[in-house]
Amino acid sequence: MNHDQARYGDDDRYEPLLSETGTKTVDVSEESPLPDGLTREELELPTSSEPELSRHYTRLSQMNWSVETGPYPLGSCTMKYNPSFTEDVAADPNAAVHPERSEETIQGTLELLAGLQDYLARIGGMDAVTLQPPAGAAGEFTGIHVAKAYHESRNDDRSEVIVPASAHGTNFASAAMAGYDVVELPSGEDGRVDLDALEAAVSEETAALMLTNPNTVGLFERDIVEISEMVHDAGGLLYYDGANLNALLGRARPGDMGFDVMHYNVHKTFATPHGGGGPGAGPVGVREELAEFLPRPRVREQDGQYELYDPERSIGKVHGYQGNWLVLVKAYAYIARLGDSGLEDASAKAVLNANYLAEQMEYDIPYGPFHHEFAATAGDRDAADVAKRMLDYGVHPPTTKWPEFVPEAMLTEPTEAEDKTSLDDLAAAFNGAISDSEEELANAPSKTTAQRIDQATAARNPRLSWHALDEQ
Ligand SMILES: Cc1ncc(COP(=O)(O)O)c(C=O)c1O
Repeated sequence: MNHDQARYGDDDRYEPLLSETGTKTVDVSEESPLPDGLTREELELPTSSEPELSRHYTRLSQMNWSVETGPYPLGSCTMKYNPSFTEDVAADPNAAVHPERSEETIQGTLELLAGLQDYLARIGGMDAVTLQPPAGAAGEFTGIHVAKAYHESRNDDRSEVIVPASAHGTNFASAAMAGYDVVELPSGEDGRVDLDALEAAVSEETAALMLTNPNTVGLFERDIVEISEMVHDAGGLLYYDGANLNALLGRARPGDMGFDVMHYNVHKTFATPHGGGGPGAGPVGVREELAEFLPRPRVREQDGQYELYDPERSIGKVHGYQGNWLVLVKAYAYIARLGDSGLEDASAKAVLNANYLAEQMEYDIPYGPFHHEFAATAGDRDAADVAKRMLDYGVHPPTTKWPEFVPEAMLTEPTEAEDKTSLDDLAAAFNGAISDSEEELANAPSKTTAQRIDQATAARNPRLSWHALDEQ
């Protein structure tokens, strides 16, 4: 008896999925509305027993690196350990509500969403928040659209968004996808925004300046008040890329620095899983004047009841329902557990850990003083080779070769999650790798399951189907 029979017995819902040959014949005799080229008469599926499948995935998981296995110091990406209690909260069956249920029956769900909007608004110094965007980049796209709707509502036609050269690539892409011309701002000699260059770039065409603070090499933009005045005086808005909020949590707020719109990378700062294409969340916060343009629907409390409503001049929807609900549940649980003092402690440790690690490393770090991340340089070694060699020391390497204004950059962010032993191990790996021979670097990694892969071929000629296994 196989699994399905054990489950369904003689129930006529039971129908073996696969024939013995592993081929299921699908009845497509009914006329299909699809074009001929897109239909098929047979569907060949791979067959595996449950133990085979279970062992396959367990083996793959053991070959992988994770924040459960060790530090993941990818600068800018903020890969920190996600406490498992947040998973327990999200796994509570009560957290699984159908999004089409009526408002009266999901008051708890709406209360949590309203609570998270409120937490995020307070943390960022913003007046209103939408939880819909599913990632930081989606938040940028949404935020820039909100800024655009704001200008349009004032019949103020602007065509440019200014983005510093050191910004994350998604900033350029989001502004361009929202229909703006992107003006790239060169970094000053100290790695920060060059005020003269900004003055030359700002004009009546400026819709917004997108900035993260601290910036992508961990430097606090000390001139932020002046920057904000310059942009606002020209009628533009200040957009905050919240990817580096870890450095400021509980200490300083983008809203207080003059930012009008921001996104939060919930999966970086508020401990929900990140990357791998998995669902994240990139809520957007705005000042009062921009709230009426936020995506619909939003959540609010009216006379003790929570309800969904459409902001008056909403830009529309950017995601189904309220966004990635369970990711938002985890973020809520994390913020509620840490509280004000916990968030403050997180940013203190994020900054302390980065500075402690840098002290232990025998690398030149051209720009400072930095906060939660720093760009070391591999000097005359190839940063990518050094990173691959670090794998042989049993640690995950940092982000390499970015930002580009730091030669052979190794952008490192240990996060607040690491303790001293872990930071010491990381430093030992950094220092060991940079002093190894050219040959060791060129052949690295030599101790991992997968060794040096041909990245260009993997990217240009990916094998994404199980059929590809036959061709090997
Ligand atoms: C500075 C910065 N901005 C924006 C993003 C985009 O965020 P997401 O990966 O959530 O789309 C990232 C991602 O790493 C980032 O580092």
